[in-house]
Amino acid sequence: MSKPITVAICGCGNRGLEAYAPFAKAFPDKMKVVAGADIKPERLRMLRERYGVPEDMCFDSDLSMLAAPRLADVMVISTQDQLHIRPAMAALEKGYHLLLEKPISASAEECVALREKAHQCKRAVVVCHVLRYTQFYSTLERLLREGTVGRLETIDAMEHVAYWHFAHSYVRGNWRREDESSPMILAKCCHDMDILRWLAGDRCVSVQSFGSLDYFKSENAPEGSALRCLDCAVKDACPYDAEKIYITNEASGIRHVGPRWPGNVLVDHPTEESLYEAMRTGPYGRCVFHCDNDVADRQTINMEFANGVLATFTVSAFTERCYRSVKVTGTMGDIVGDLDANRLFIHRFGEPEEVIDLGLLQEEYAGHGGGDFGMMHYLCGLIESGSVEGLTGIDASVESHLMGLAAEVSRREGGRLVKMEEVDRA
Ligand SMILES: NC(=O)c1ccc[n+]([C@@H]2O[C@H](COP(=O)([O-])OP(=O)(O)OC[C@H]3O[C@@H](n4cnc5c(N)ncnc54)[C@H](O)[C@@H]3O)[C@@H](O)[C@H]2O)c1
Repeated sequence: MSKPITVAICGCGNRGLEAYAPFAKAFPDKMKVVAGADIKPERLRMLRERYGVPEDMCFDSDLSMLAAPRLADVMVISTQDQLHIRPAMAALEKGYHLLLEKPISASAEECVALREKAHQCKRAVVVCHVLRYTQFYSTLERLLREGTVGRLETIDAMEHVAYWHFAHSYVRGNWRREDESSPMILAKCCHDMDILRWLAGDRCVSVQSFGSLDYFKSENAPEGSALRCLDCAVKDACPYDAEKIYITNEASGIRHVGPRWPGNVLVDHPTEESLYEAMRTGPYGRCVFHCDNDVADRQTINMEFANGVLATFTVSAFTERCYRSVKVTGTMGDIVGDLDANRLFIHRFGEPEEVIDLGLLQEEYAGHGGGDFGMMHYLCGLIESGSVEGLTGIDASVESHLMGLAAEVSRREGGRLVKMEEVDRA
């Protein structure tokens, strides 16, 4: 049996500690967490306690960890959006392979610079486009490549964010402001851009986009509402009420999902008491109509690919469930996919429907439809093989980021057609 790959985690927050590190517990023969950095001592304490990382391998920032000699095979970069590029460039210089959270950067120039650096240093950079590693999308991609629907003509995809998830992350939370994180289309949808480009099977040549922040602003506050949900007289009729979202909602409240996400974003150790305290005093108890958010709450994109495939994409805050759906059409049939049901419905023209039920997701593949752990298996295999070209290698990932950035240029300019050369000047 080969030795496990070693990882150093830069940013021991939700993704670093709750999505990727647990792979080391589930598959100790494949991965070992040997070092970590975070500016919050509590997160480092959790890292030490859960993974036995020694004190001298815990660092108080990305900078101090990167000042040390190389500590592991791979650096997992799971700091917030605007703190990816700095540690990523430095870690490549030090000889680390990277598991890099998306978005790489909200600047086209920085995305391209990272691509150049990765090639120069000959290191693997696996960007966390976790959807590629789901059975759902990998099966769909295989079906298209096998010609199941003939020549691919169109792709129509939708990201259903879910009203409570949007309120949590994009109105009250970490991704509510562009200047502190990135435009919503990058933060939420660079996965979707990556999947669309992968399914299309060729590079994107032009995009056009519409979208705005339509609903979560003060002019839409119901009469009688307060600045904080716990003080609000009309909260009973409001689905965005923080108390519902964090305490009683079946999809997100602690009474149903336990002390996990999204409650663990408000406090390190969620209990009803600690969540109520956070709602009383912190950002997550604010009325959704009285926050300092500015990112779009719905957006559409039209895309054309070099091989003639056309695609449309919609992302909306205003959905009941949190999932993705897709419909592809080809000259000989169409396929409808529902990631929540984990099913693909294949229609070959004139023939009975075929349903591919991708089955209940296995426990160890939990997270993003199985993608989180699927990606970790892939990463371990890649490093073990000595290859640097991953399924979500840096070239493909930069391309999908540039698609998102082109869409953003178009959205800001009222839907102007933007050619990809405008953003990819490398
Ligand atoms: N791939 C996916 O599907 C997916 C899903 C959700 C989030 N994300 C991305 O993952 C990233 C992390 O998100 P999160 O929810 O884990 O955020 P988080 O805020 O929970 O975690 C970030 C951690 O970085 C720490 N940190 C801040 N400054 C630091 C520094 N200088 N050095 C070291 N650590 C520092 C913070 O204290 C925090 O613990 C974001 O960029 C987000 O967009 C990706």
